[in-house]
Amino acid sequence: MAVAQVPPEIAAQAARLTVGILGGTGDQGRGLARRLALAGNRVIIGSRDAGRAATAAASVGSPPQVTGAANEEVARAADLVIAAVPWEGHADLLARLAGALEGKIVVDCVNPIAFDARGAYAIPVPEGSAAQQAAAELTGSTVVGAFHHVSAVLLLDPDVLVLGDDRHATDLVQALAERIPGVRGVYAGRLRNCGQVEALTANLVSVNRRYKAHAGLRVTDV
Ligand SMILES: NC(=O)c1ccc[n+]([C@@H]2O[C@H](COP(=O)([O-])OP(=O)(O)OC[C@H]3O[C@@H](n4cnc5c(N)ncnc54)[C@H](OP(=O)(O)O)[C@@H]3O)[C@@H](O)[C@H]2O)c1
Repeated sequence: MAVAQVPPEIAAQAARLTVGILGGTGDQGRGLARRLALAGNRVIIGSRDAGRAATAAASVGSPPQVTGAANEEVARAADLVIAAVPWEGHADLLARLAGALEGKIVVDCVNPIAFDARGAYAIPVPEGSAAQQAAAELTGSTVVGAFHHVSAVLLLDPDVLVLGDDRHATDLVQALAERIPGVRGVYAGRLRNCGQVEALTANLVSVNRRYKAHAGLRVTDV
């Protein structure tokens, strides 16, 4: 089995990252915050409301390792920022934070999916994907798509598909994912391939509903 190893110097960089999470008060944000904090990273949980961020941070860990702040302050203070807001708020929030996020790696885990009487379905995105929409808004940042399929409930065992156009950024996000025990970061292509990764979440939601599970993804033979 050809397992791509994260280079040790990139793993060391990932260990030093202060990770900010926009919309970190939600299930996905708190799940990632808890796992990354347990792995030893400093985490700043973001919210539209600083008080809500502080409450969420206190539910995950304690300062100085886990703190909360308004999204804008998180964007400024963190080394790497994860966008974990619902699709509905994605474009507006990132457009507003473009200046604060300049020069940073922004990890987008947003799935443009919706639900109707027949279940989950993928919403077409004019830019191709949420991650490409982020890249279009954040011209001064390096956008990487990752953590789309990680079940907020378990955050265990899955392969995290990592997509992007910058090799150092995707390596670093793979290394960050691998700080979570049992998680493996797998490079899965350039950002233009993120649409189907986001859309696949609708299929996983269908799996979960049918089998009452928290399905994750596993890539074989790598
Ligand atoms: N949940 C999962 O298992 C999972 C797994 C993989 C990927 N994802 C993706 O991760 C993202 C977050 O998922 P979630 O389940 O954590 O969502 P969520 O709980 O609905 O939302 C996360 C946070 O985003 C903020 N928010 C809500 N509406 C907003 C808006 N219009 N503009 C700006 N911020 C807004 C809220 O924080 P404040 O009110 O405190 O600002 C909320 O707590 C989604 O895009 C989802 O597709 C989720």
